[in-house]
Amino acid sequence: KVVAVIMVGGPTKGTRFRPLSLNIPKPLFPLAGQPMVHHPISACKRIPNLTQIFLIGFYEEREFALYVSSISNELKVPVRYLREDKPHGSAGGLYNFRDRIMEDNPLHIVLLNCDVCCSFPLPEMLEAHKKYGGMGTILVIKVSAESASQFGELVADPVTNELLHYTEKPETFVSDRINCGVYIFTPDIFNAVEGVSTQWKDRGSDTFSMNRLSCAISADLRRLSSFESLHSATRNAPTHFVRLDQDILSPLAGKKQLYTYETLDFWEQIKTPGMSLKCSGLYLAQFRFTNPHLLVSGDGTKSASITGDVYVHPSAKVHPTAKIGPNVSISANARIGPGARLISCIILDNVEIKATGDYNSKLGITILGEAVTVEDEVVVINSIVLPHKTLNVSVQEEIIL
Ligand code: GDD
Repeated sequence: KVVAVIMVGGPTKGTRFRPLSLNIPKPLFPLAGQPMVHHPISACKRIPNLTQIFLIGFYEEREFALYVSSISNELKVPVRYLREDKPHGSAGGLYNFRDRIMEDNPLHIVLLNCDVCCSFPLPEMLEAHKKYGGMGTILVIKVSAESASQFGELVADPVTNELLHYTEKPETFVSDRINCGVYIFTPDIFNAVEGVSTQWKDRGSDTFSMNRLSCAISADLRRLSSFESLHSATRNAPTHFVRLDQDILSPLAGKKQLYTYETLDFWEQIKTPGMSLKCSGLYLAQFRFTNPHLLVSGDGTKSASITGDVYVHPSAKVHPTAKIGPNVSISANARIGPGARLISCIILDNVEIKATGDYNSKLGITILGEAVTVEDEVVVINSIVLPHKTLNVSVQEEIIL
């Protein structure tokens, strides 16, 4: 048996994404018309003998309740949301729910970060993992040397694929092979997490806190990211804050316990609104092969003129004279008026784009929040518009708060 766990994080972690996730938690933000977390969930469906899917996070339970029950019915696999009372780190969160995760006695645990976009080659990875016989297998990809430092960089044995060396977001270049945030573990992972916590406790909480503080400071300064996550990391340090990458993968490298599986397919991390648009496009392109019925074709039932990959929710209304695509996804109850021209955008629920008089009017790389109204003749280019706004003047390169 196999279970899958998707780490969805919580409100304090998604700060860079916040303009978009004001009323939707980041994992439910639509990419290619489906919630972000829906893509890894549907990839899990391809794993043989999968019994359950758990989402672990520290968002309010009610935010996920509706989605979790509808997706369980749709996939015929139980999907459960497990809420942490506070962040415990990527490995600490997993460890806290070990009893729930182990209730079906799975032999393998598929662990996924929610904020990555890829083809999730899980059945292939599982086969490789069984062959390697280690405790864990990590999905890796080759990226450019310049971008590698934003991720966990690693070195693997070219013959056995054993993980030999792992450094999380290193300051000096280690390798252009990086950790994709997609793993398969045996239940021994729980012993490994327990091992590090015990080790820390034995060493005394002072040393432990100092180590954690300096790690958190250097990681956060390098990313110039939220002070809040630094604060929560240190505040929770003496209890069970364990990070999978730094605290588990790094020390276990070179000990014949961890192996790698390289993907040659697409992979991106989704930390910013701009990346969500790129990833929406990647998933739309993937639908050509996996779910062609979700794409609107030029001669389909919607009579609007369609270019490239486009998703339109069945409840959305698109005027026949509108021109849509490429890379457009239109969510529930959106209304697109006569002559509107949409390129590269994600239109959220209830957005209204009124009539536009000529075809020069267009939306560039733009994300419109829920229930935004764009008045007649208004041109929106490269902008992010927060929910419930009405735009009656044209905007370019702006974030409308
Ligand atoms: N439930 C829960 N609780 N989830 C968490 C917590 C927590 O306390 N902390 C992080 N997560 C989730 C995040 O939502 C994300 O999906 C995943 O765990 C990893 O988040 P981070 O620990 O913040 O790491 P990162 O995203 O900066 O980098 C990790 O992923 C990269 C791939 O996207 C690292 O593992 C990198 O090495 C890797 O390249």
